[in-house]
Amino acid sequence: MTAPLHTPALIAKKRDGGVLSDVEIRALIDGAVTGEVPDYQMSALLMAIVWRGLDTRELTTWTRAMIDSGERLRWDDLPGPVIDKHSTGGVGDKVSVCLAPLCAAAGLFVPMMAGRALGHTGGTLDKLETIPGFRTALDPRAFGRVLKRAGFVLAGQSARLAPADRRLYALRDATATVESIPLIASSILSKKVAEGAAGLVMDVKTGSGAFLPSLDRTRALARTLIALGRALGLPVRAVLSGMDQPLGNAIGNAVEVQEAIDVLKGGGPPDLVDLTLRLGAEMLVLGAVARDLRDGTARMARARSSGEGLQRFALGVRLQGGDPRVVDDPKRLPSARHSRVVRAPRAGVVARADAGLLGRAATLLGAGRARQEDRISPGAAILMRAKVGARVAAGDALCTVHFDDPARARAALPQIAAAFRIASRAPAPPPLVVETLGRLR
Ligand code: URA
Repeated sequence: MTAPLHTPALIAKKRDGGVLSDVEIRALIDGAVTGEVPDYQMSALLMAIVWRGLDTRELTTWTRAMIDSGERLRWDDLPGPVIDKHSTGGVGDKVSVCLAPLCAAAGLFVPMMAGRALGHTGGTLDKLETIPGFRTALDPRAFGRVLKRAGFVLAGQSARLAPADRRLYALRDATATVESIPLIASSILSKKVAEGAAGLVMDVKTGSGAFLPSLDRTRALARTLIALGRALGLPVRAVLSGMDQPLGNAIGNAVEVQEAIDVLKGGGPPDLVDLTLRLGAEMLVLGAVARDLRDGTARMARARSSGEGLQRFALGVRLQGGDPRVVDDPKRLPSARHSRVVRAPRAGVVARADAGLLGRAATLLGAGRARQEDRISPGAAILMRAKVGARVAAGDALCTVHFDDPARARAALPQIAAAFRIASRAPAPPPLVVETLGRLR
């Protein structure tokens, strides 16, 4: 018989800078899943980890325990490499929605287990659920069926895959305990190992809209992901990408699906297109489908221009119960009741469009959650009309704000206005990819 868990003592140990043993860590993670460790104790422990961290051994055990909390999928029977991409979280980051079908069209299998809005950043599941009928809760068999037929699947963690992360992710979102390198790394890699990926490209965001805004912390997170991946047998390549301003023009849920569809149709904003092709190229090289990044980018571009990526998207949507007519008829996606334009207070060049402030404002509008049980407002959105480097006259539109609840808009609008800075001279263009770490293959 195992000794009863004395959770307060373990919380105190971590709070005071102690190191948890393997047995203690496994008992805590198991307890989080069974309910033996209630949410209030787990939240306190998570906050202690935010402050004190986990050392390499603790982090590996913590992540293994999260993986072992559920099933592990295997894809030995698939006729192609199984490679995934994950982002550490950004504002306007809808890359997964267009990237996964493009990679499938280019020869990969992408078993993407995605998350919900977390803190001020959007979540792929919340976005996809704005497609009428789209189901993100798939059991492992249905997950496999969609993956085999469409070449990609975009779903949430079923109760059977990494259930510990599902539990902790929701708690972290509601208790300001997201911003921790070991918690982010274990959250991401537990899902990726459980879903059976053979390689992972990480889009590690840096800048004001990232969870870890400074480049030093971003690099530290990327290195942790690579080292933890190695310990778990999962090759990880990290692309550090800029998140000082939102990616693309749309921030919100339905609007981001629409923008991802635009990319699949050959349009879309250039920064979103470039990052999607680049991350896809990295995945194709990691999966040995492409020789090098140039070849990978060309294959991604062909998957887009041929329309095959779009067809894969429509197939995946249909297989997951969604209405594929959204592809040709965006009005089938929900929209908000009201809108307001935010205008430039003076003439000049947009020098800042702060992704962190805009992401928090979008959450206030209802695009994200303040509490676990909050419902998302699917049409709430900020649509950028001028990004960094754009020349504007006084009174020109900077963005359009879409909302259902005027009270929420009143709270968000001043933050949105404060996110923009107009200067007399153009700033240096913000880099899309700052650097890459980890082996390409
Ligand atoms: N994405 C995840 O899956 N988990 C995190 O903690 C942050 C981003």
